[in-house]
Amino acid sequence: MKQIIAIDGPSGVGKSSVSKQLAKALGWTYLDTGATYRAVTLAWLRSDRKVERLADGAWLAGLDIDFREGAVYLNGEDVSQAIRTEEVTAQVSLVSAQSGVRADLTRLQRKIGNLRPCILDGRDIGTVVFPDAFLKVFLTAGEAVRARRRWTQLGGERSGRSFEQVLEDQRVRDRKDASRSLAPLKKADDAWELDTDTYDQDQVAALIEREARRRL
Ligand code: C5P
Repeated sequence: MKQIIAIDGPSGVGKSSVSKQLAKALGWTYLDTGATYRAVTLAWLRSDRKVERLADGAWLAGLDIDFREGAVYLNGEDVSQAIRTEEVTAQVSLVSAQSGVRADLTRLQRKIGNLRPCILDGRDIGTVVFPDAFLKVFLTAGEAVRARRRWTQLGGERSGRSFEQVLEDQRVRDRKDASRSLAPLKKADDAWELDTDTYDQDQVAALIEREARRRL
């Protein structure tokens, strides 16, 4: 079994916070696969924005996505902030549904994950990227709980967006991610489903860490 922990689930469920905490506790590398899709989306938004561009192998091959000290780089530029904008978030599901993009990024994610013990979070880690991961977790939480967390992260009332808007955007993105034909958001048959409604981040990370240590 590969020393890979796959953390999948819908948006706003807390995958990245839990994965970071877990990576620190275990001394493993953390790879945010959503950031790879966001980086390609940013590059596409800066290009001519033609959908055909996303099937252009030469264009995709020209994108250099790298992770260093917790930051995400696109062709040498630190894009850690730029990939989190509303515009990128609104378009990322369109970009991530393209087969050429998925093939490229799946290859990149496997390359990084194969180098060292790694925790990857995303939508298809347990089903497609690392189906042989030694621990697969599928995090869930009610949609209102998730949207509330995201809205709070954005600054709540100060964000200039209503809670209802954030909830609706989240619904749209999850629907797109779960209904696409390629590698949809889905629980792997052998994943441990963990409902985080009643747990905080520390408790979720501690539960997964205990299970990981039991299996090591
Ligand atoms: O995790 P995050 O919300 O940053 O992911 C952004 C988007 O990237 C998701 O909505 C989804 O469209 C795509 N994604 C994916 N497969 C993954 C991770 C993310 O399709 N493994």
